[in-house]
Amino acid sequence: MIMSRLWSSSLVTSKIIFLSYVFLILISHSDTVDRSKFKTCDQSGFCKRQRNVKEGSATYEADLSQGTVSTSSVSIPVINKGNGIPFVLEVFLLEGLKFRVKLNEAKPLRPRYEVEHALLSNMREGKLEVKKAADHWALIADTNNEARVYSTPLRIEFYSGGEKVTVINGRQMLKFEHLRKKPDVNDEPNDENAANEEGKEEPEPSMWEESFGGHQDSKPRGPESVGVDIDFPFTQHLYGLPEHADSFLIKDTKGGDPYRLYNLDVFEYEVNNGMALYASVPYIMAHSPKNTVGLLWLNAAETWVDFDVGGGSNLVDSIVNLVGGGASDEKVGRTRWMSESGIIDIFVFMGPKPTDVMRQFGEVAGTAPLPQMWAIASQQCRWNYNDEEDVRQVDEGFDSHDMPYDSIWLDIEHTDGKKYFTWDSHKFGHPVEMIQNITAKGRKMVTIIDPHIKRESGYFVHEDALRDDLYVKDKTGKVYEGWCWPGAASYLDFFDPKVREYWSSRFRLENYPSTVDLYTWNDMNEPSVFNGPEVTMPKDLIHYGDWEHRDVHNLYGLLMVKATYDGQMLRSENQLRPFILTRAAYVGSHRYTSIWTGDNTAEWSHLKISIPMCLSLGIAGFAHCGADIGGFFHNPEPELILRWYQAAMFQPFVRNHAHIETKRREPWLFGDHNTALIRSAIRKRYALLPYWYTLFHQAEMEGIPPMRPIWMLFPDDVKTYNIEGQHLIGNALMVAPVLEKGASKVSVYLPGVIWYDFYNYVAYQSGYHTIPVTEDSIPVFQRGGTIIPTKQRIRRASTLMKRDPFTLFVALDENNEARGRLYIDDGQSFGYRNGKFLEVEFTFKDNKLQSRVVNPGSYATTEWVERVVILGWRNRPASITVSSKSVGTSKLEFEGTHPLVIRKPRTLITEDWEIILS
Ligand SMILES: *[C@@H]1O[C@H](CO)[C@@H](O)[C@H](O)[C@H]1NC(C)=O
Repeated sequence: MIMSRLWSSSLVTSKIIFLSYVFLILISHSDTVDRSKFKTCDQSGFCKRQRNVKEGSATYEADLSQGTVSTSSVSIPVINKGNGIPFVLEVFLLEGLKFRVKLNEAKPLRPRYEVEHALLSNMREGKLEVKKAADHWALIADTNNEARVYSTPLRIEFYSGGEKVTVINGRQMLKFEHLRKKPDVNDEPNDENAANEEGKEEPEPSMWEESFGGHQDSKPRGPESVGVDIDFPFTQHLYGLPEHADSFLIKDTKGGDPYRLYNLDVFEYEVNNGMALYASVPYIMAHSPKNTVGLLWLNAAETWVDFDVGGGSNLVDSIVNLVGGGASDEKVGRTRWMSESGIIDIFVFMGPKPTDVMRQFGEVAGTAPLPQMWAIASQQCRWNYNDEEDVRQVDEGFDSHDMPYDSIWLDIEHTDGKKYFTWDSHKFGHPVEMIQNITAKGRKMVTIIDPHIKRESGYFVHEDALRDDLYVKDKTGKVYEGWCWPGAASYLDFFDPKVREYWSSRFRLENYPSTVDLYTWNDMNEPSVFNGPEVTMPKDLIHYGDWEHRDVHNLYGLLMVKATYDGQMLRSENQLRPFILTRAAYVGSHRYTSIWTGDNTAEWSHLKISIPMCLSLGIAGFAHCGADIGGFFHNPEPELILRWYQAAMFQPFVRNHAHIETKRREPWLFGDHNTALIRSAIRKRYALLPYWYTLFHQAEMEGIPPMRPIWMLFPDDVKTYNIEGQHLIGNALMVAPVLEKGASKVSVYLPGVIWYDFYNYVAYQSGYHTIPVTEDSIPVFQRGGTIIPTKQRIRRASTLMKRDPFTLFVALDENNEARGRLYIDDGQSFGYRNGKFLEVEFTFKDNKLQSRVVNPGSYATTEWVERVVILGWRNRPASITVSSKSVGTSKLEFEGTHPLVIRKPRTLITEDWEIILS
């Protein structure tokens, strides 16, 4: 920052050269996303109106004298002095240091939409102490946490540990468009209606109708947008707001468009911009060494968010700042949230540490349930596997190339003419036998089920939907008809409970010819409508409850996966954990589904962006996230797919998938040399499955995702705040994938004290390192002080490794200590929720490795320990002995010092045991 000021004058010329270079890059990428199909803020009526709001312009006041107090909340009347419109402000305290702020019209012309289904229904209230002062009320949660509601002008401040961490409407940019009657065309401009318009603004034509790309939005209900500034006075490090193909650390939007949240099917999306994508989770974390807070904006309508966090929104902007000497040392992160309809409903999670915020978010939005073991192994997909013979050959290909994989997926072509829940009778004439052939090998099959229903007489879903009134309607009340994969299609209205029940029943075995062990991929559920505005539904369609599509758009995909989840439960009679992969998502979708980053491209930049995209989804609850390996569109060069495999094996969800027009991409098709390298990468994933599985269990219990930003474990280390190309798996592994073509080394930052290369055991002290890489490796480090459970006998599917023995990797810290955990259960059922599991804690201390069953559930297993590898040991022990109930006390064989490999303790994982080095 200081340097930039000194250099600013000499930079003017280089700036111009640089700008031309930027424009060249833009031109050379013009063959990808068609931006003209998607709105900018300026092309979205409400966004434009909201973005015109100036600092200090809001005229809202809270009347504290009329406020009421209950044990967990306060309710205070608010008036917009500018136009006399009354509002109600409610502030709630939820148990576990979470505040909720709701602002709605006191007497709206008709109800305004409040988000349903996204959050848990059983949130527990906290106990509030209210201290009233003349100009504010202090809402005290505990000695460290409080919220203050100020009356004139209205603003709400949040304090954690004495530091002001969040302020709502501190810059007086609240704009809440009240519902109103449409002005009569004959009305004089200065009549009562016009006088009632928000603030001093002129009514705009976009308030009552607007059009984009040849589509008319009739907007019969008029303007109803909401927007407010929310600032974080303690930090400019804000993260999250999925889904965007952008950095994890949120960028400044000054001079560019705001980040947009509106579930859209964006063909050939580009990286490094805030355009809307398939999923929308209006959630961010604000982080500093002292405090971390989470902020959830609970609104399901189209939403845009502006950020003023220093720096520039893009290259051009940051250079302008540089030249103008605009960069400053101030630390305030400023944001402004704008939604097209609904109410203002904000959650503030008070932390104070990142893991506290994750827990608090999970207590409100739920956590991702533990997947079946196969689902966290490697999956193989393609649009499309052509027929049963193709499926058989691909499946056998994995065996003949000695590559493990756990499921094969069928895309839209497996159906009879894109009619979901059917099979193409020529290509897939024996679905039950085909699936049984796959499951007999311990593998699974996944089929795609999309929400667009083919309008074809005789297709049972369509007939049922017409007969029982299950479709979304247009503004005149007629069934809406759009265009998608099947051609003419209508869309089930998942907002209607009877539609969800109907959808769930389609998954019953008798309604879908298959086997119990079949899983589901819900794609195109933004929903994608090829001939609709911005490739989705018109906003004036009508859903169950008389809500406009405008109000609920971002929830459509959530309700679809919720119904699918219930369907899978019906199908297995509650015996098997469902597996669903979704493209569209909203807050809370993670309670039902895994997610992938949609239709990416075979480019290095897309491999690189998969890390921040999954980190971002991860802090928003999506524990099980991944990107199509190799890139969906176009053909990856061998080096790219190799590096992608190596990176993806350290991401939560692993799937090779490709577009129908690409070359076949099974992992043995890139030459023998690359086949061996990819095999080695996949085997590394399978070895680590016990560790991953333990982390996914932790995700369900504590809300902490397996794939973590480094600052989640090292909150004080500011050097970790800008790292985008490196991440943690749990608290023990650091991964720094190769993300550049032709790289022979990777720059890595290691926080803390000591780390060990997980594959060659070289020890590294904390700090910056340049790590040489070969074709066969990406840098992966185990943190000193941790113990990782693995299985080293790799079989053709994870389910076949169930009874295999464990190898433990013990990485010692500077005090010669380490600890770790292992969670096991049957890998597929819900038995674990009724005690059928086992949790083991490993501790190394005073030259002794101890294993203690800390949670002795009733899960029975014969798994045992076959090897212990100790990293960081300094001299050769004289002897090593093991003792446990099953093996008694005996001497063990061992070799080496670093690593020190201890052979065959043979202890059972279900018993307590210890190994003593002397
Ligand atoms: C199932 O496997 C058997 C044995 O390999 C094979 O003959 C049969 O064609 C397979 N069935 C299907 C539908 O793929």
